[in-house]
Amino acid sequence: MEQVDLLILGAGAAGLFCAGSALRQGRRVVVLDHAQGPGEKIRISGGGRCNFTNLATAPDRFLSRNPRFAASALSRFTASDFVRLVDRAGIVWHEKTQGQLFCDGKATQITRMLLDRMDGAGLRMQTALHAVRHDGTGFVVETSGGTIHAAQVVVATGGKSIPKIGATGIAYDIAAQFGLRLVETRAALVPLTFAEQELALCRPLAGVSVEAEIRHGGGRFRDALLFTHRGLSGPVILQISSYWQPGETLQIDLAPGRDIAAELKTARGQSGRAAVASALGRALPARLAAAICDEMGFTQARLADQPNARLEAIGARVNHWQMRPVGSEGYRTAEVTLGGIDTRDLDARTMQARTVPGLFFIGECVDVTGWLGGYNFQWAWASADAAGRAA
Ligand code: FDA
Repeated sequence: MEQVDLLILGAGAAGLFCAGSALRQGRRVVVLDHAQGPGEKIRISGGGRCNFTNLATAPDRFLSRNPRFAASALSRFTASDFVRLVDRAGIVWHEKTQGQLFCDGKATQITRMLLDRMDGAGLRMQTALHAVRHDGTGFVVETSGGTIHAAQVVVATGGKSIPKIGATGIAYDIAAQFGLRLVETRAALVPLTFAEQELALCRPLAGVSVEAEIRHGGGRFRDALLFTHRGLSGPVILQISSYWQPGETLQIDLAPGRDIAAELKTARGQSGRAAVASALGRALPARLAAAICDEMGFTQARLADQPNARLEAIGARVNHWQMRPVGSEGYRTAEVTLGGIDTRDLDARTMQARTVPGLFFIGECVDVTGWLGGYNFQWAWASADAAGRAA
């Protein structure tokens, strides 16, 4: 039976990074994965340009049942540490917005950098994982390529999002098998879907984007909202999807920082003959302003004919739009999986299971989920480095 010091399950962001960190400790490392090639999610991330970190990384940008858990790893491997590696590899990058760093070129440059960093480790792709057990001296891992005996195992097989490119959720099965607790999982950073009634508004507006603010369940985001054929998407919706629970109504401000009712009243005093829709079009994209006016029966209406109550109704519709999603697009399109391995059962400094020495969990499978904007990769790097140094 093949013997290794450290076997890393999963050649995604966390697994590849962990291999590089562990090699620096002089360990014999093997990484295995059932996919065709390493770093499949890195390849498709950030629209193909990989939003590889965020300069504003801080524990409060992550959701977890224990909000303090991520602080240790994040403070010991920071966004600047990763940027230093990117610079050393000669990868050109830019800050897009809100601290989000993207490659100027292809996302695969990041995978290349991670592979170079783990040069010396074994990489076994297209190798399916069948079973993991402990034989009293170490871990026996059955794979499609044979059985491997490892002194230590790092589970970096990610969450359940995007099964089409290899996500399986096997990390949760391994954790449960070794007696670790799980926090219920669900799709996050995902477009929300709506019933026919709301879709009647959304569909004709597909492609229209507007800056919006949503506060819900402790989250508060101001960013682009995009109307689609299936409902609503765009960064502000993806962000709030991590805080939304089925059955809850969202209140959306389509003109944050502006009091639409007050603006319409002022406009009525200045140019009463103007159509309500064109006055509203000063604050919103014209197609959205027209759709709202149609929906509320103001299609041809002039400002001068509207009493305060009607202008206030339009203001409320824009500043406090109530929307009740019926669900989300689910793991098929979700960027991440919320929940996962309960952090109470992991050591925050090393990511090692408290009750199973030698077994580590890193990356997305852990109950630590970042906001949109490079935070999830930063968690992958930081948790991987913590485990790689400790293993
Ligand atoms: P990851 O999913 O990367 O890797 C897990 C690996 O385990 C995979 O290679 C998989 O094949 C393998 N595996 C799973 N089950 C297995 C089994 N049974 N046997 C063997 N191997 C198995 N984040 C961010 O910060 N910035 C961004 O720009 C984006 N963009 C983005 C776009 C899209 C479309 C998605 C879906 C996601 C993002 N993300 C992101 C999120 C980011 O991709 C994610 O948080 C990290 O990839 C998580 O890294 P992990 O290594 O934990 O899992």
